[in-house]
Amino acid sequence: MINKNNIPSHVAIIMDGNGRWANQKGLLRAIGHQGGVEAVRDTVEGAAEIGVKYLTLYAFSTENWSRPKEEVDALMELLVQAINDETKTLNDNNIRLLAIGDIDALPEKCRNKLNETIHSTSENSRMTLILALSYSSKWEITRAFNLMLCDFKAGKLSGTIYPEIVDQYLTTAGIPDPDLLIRTSGEYRISNFLLWQIAYSELFFTETLWPDFRRQHLFEAIEDYQKRERRFGKTGDQINNSI
Ligand code: IPE
Ligand code: IPE
Ligand code: MG
Repeated sequence: MINKNNIPSHVAIIMDGNGRWANQKGLLRAIGHQGGVEAVRDTVEGAAEIGVKYLTLYAFSTENWSRPKEEVDALMELLVQAINDETKTLNDNNIRLLAIGDIDALPEKCRNKLNETIHSTSENSRMTLILALSYSSKWEITRAFNLMLCDFKAGKLSGTIYPEIVDQYLTTAGIPDPDLLIRTSGEYRISNFLLWQIAYSELFFTETLWPDFRRQHLFEAIEDYQKRERRFGKTGDQINNSI
């Protein structure tokens, strides 16, 4: 049973396994990605239903640009279609859409569709859905260094840099760090995702391939999360006695 008083405020997911799911069925990888959209739909609805405030989905990494052109093109096409199809549902469910990553690197059609939906859902307040697109953590952190350097040269940044200042230069500025990070498909790695932000996230790995993932799997991960004691460097006694 999920305790409604301890829902992770921010859940991040590395959605992996679309290709293997398709291979197992003798289908093309692109069909696996289509199956992935179904999983996104159910997971987004489930997250909003249970009271998650921020859901970040790793949809396309900087490294994914190195895949065969046909696969990249199919993914970009699918992205436009999925955003188009889901905009109404996002609005009906009071969900705001945001994107992190090198959005300028996306094809124009994709960028325009994305910006349109970000704009049309900007007043929604039940949950924020953040798509990580053309995203990698090293790209983001390097960008932050460069922005800090620019501001330093312009006299807008001086003295010592603190973690809170770094936070403001990341693409996730203003978004709380993930409480729970889920990776599907039985891979035990982070693949260049939110390295700074997951410093104290709880990690959950599942063998389920992303196209098979549904809200029940999210709820299972949340139940597991709720059994954990988040100590943030303190002792268990300190946490239990709220010292
Ligand atoms: C995740 O599934 C989707 C993206 C990375 C875009 P994959 O396409 O990586 O599927 P596998 O890992 O090859 O099974
Ligand atoms: C991570 O999956 C990126 C996304 C889910 C978008 P990959 O399939 O690209 O990761 P690796 O290559 O197995 O580490
Ligand atoms: Mg993969």
